[in-house]
Amino acid sequence: MNKNIKNIKNNIKAISSETLNGQNYSRNDFARSILNYPAMMVPSVQEPIIEKLAEALNDKVSLIDPFMGASNTLVTGMKYGMDVFGQDINPLSILLSQVKTSFYLSEELIDAERRITSSINSDIFETIEISFINIDKWFTRNTQIELSKIHRAIRREKSLKIRKFFWVALAETIRLTSNDRTSTFKMHMRPIEEINSRQISALKTFSSVSQKNIKNIGDYISVLIQKGYIKNGKYIKNADVVWGDTNSGIKTRKTFNLLVTSPPYGDNQTTVTYGQFSYLPLQWIPFEDIDKTIELDYLKTTQEIDSKSLGGQIKTNIKEIEDNVFEKSKTLKEFIIQFNYEERKKAEKVTRFIYELNNSIDKMLLRMRKDSFLAWTIGNRNVNKHIVRNDLILNELFESKGIELFTGLERDILSKRMPGRNNFSNMMSKEKILIYKKTN
Ligand SMILES: C[S@@+](CC[C@H](N)C(=O)[O-])C[C@H]1O[C@@H](n2cnc3c(N)ncnc32)[C@H](O)[C@@H]1O
Repeated sequence: MNKNIKNIKNNIKAISSETLNGQNYSRNDFARSILNYPAMMVPSVQEPIIEKLAEALNDKVSLIDPFMGASNTLVTGMKYGMDVFGQDINPLSILLSQVKTSFYLSEELIDAERRITSSINSDIFETIEISFINIDKWFTRNTQIELSKIHRAIRREKSLKIRKFFWVALAETIRLTSNDRTSTFKMHMRPIEEINSRQISALKTFSSVSQKNIKNIGDYISVLIQKGYIKNGKYIKNADVVWGDTNSGIKTRKTFNLLVTSPPYGDNQTTVTYGQFSYLPLQWIPFEDIDKTIELDYLKTTQEIDSKSLGGQIKTNIKEIEDNVFEKSKTLKEFIIQFNYEERKKAEKVTRFIYELNNSIDKMLLRMRKDSFLAWTIGNRNVNKHIVRNDLILNELFESKGIELFTGLERDILSKRMPGRNNFSNMMSKEKILIYKKTN
């Protein structure tokens, strides 16, 4: 084996288990604390992997995350001065990522926060700004009035960039003050007695979230400044985030030499319901402030985003899908054919998910340069009381495209916020970091 390649592998293998298990991370880390998006990666886990692969690339790094979620991968890449690009299907991920990859001066945010607070304090109206089915189920009347005041005050801000920052603070406020439980990502109403006795103020929550976020983003930006990555009020490299369905394609003409991602583990409905998690916040945020091309039908029902996400579609005939994907992955085939008719129906979602994952990989590979690295953090899950070996399946999908596993690591995922207790048995407590090298 080439000595250099061996060194890279050894360096990756030498990453300590404490680091991989996220024992050194802080919940207040800027990248994670600004909005509590589901199943976020721990930046301190990704950092050494990104750092070591960047050394191996020995070149300017251009990083892509095609399932960017809360964009922690991009934020980590920016700490190393890389060009970064992220894509996600969920509009809330786009908003959050736009904010996390923008440059803000603390003073402009502090001034805006003062203006917004004073605008809220002088707002005597009780008009509710938003209307959607079941609004009264998900928000008390008082919370609706308070959120409406915040909404009006943010809308008055002239700068789109500033509005985006405070829409994120509003999204976190909604997560904390709606009648939806915070313990699961699926929408579940709190018990009526709890709603009636809860002492909660959207105004106070918004104020403390805004202040915390201003501090966190300020701390992060000062790291970029210290490293010399901010010049003339801008990040010196490109940081692009795009709303798009990775299964349909990567929405850029750029090419990349490093891909770092943690894809969903299965279709959203039966694993992590990113869409349901985002449904209430997105009702209160004007889509045109996120991206003018986002269609409103994304909020048609609470299920809409999840059904548009990987594995959520049931348009194509299952037989056609099976024929296509069983040929690539014998592990998937063996998993599916062990079941009787009823169980097999239930497991269909796994096949549909893997089919779309495979299709998405093809789309990504079109944008990856020769000799690029692809680092995937992926876990297994249970369906019909049997383990879906996503790790082996992913290896087989890559093998079918002539791409071998370069090296792999394993980590505990106790520190990662996974579905609520009820669903936990559905997921595994370990995940793999699988690194591939595209040699052609
Ligand atoms: C595990 S999360 C990514 C977490 C991210 N690495 C982080 O640290 O926050 C998976 C993401 O994939 C997104 N996703 C699912 N299907 C998608 C699709 N077809 N196209 C683009 N993104 C998709 C979800 O919206 C979700 O944000």
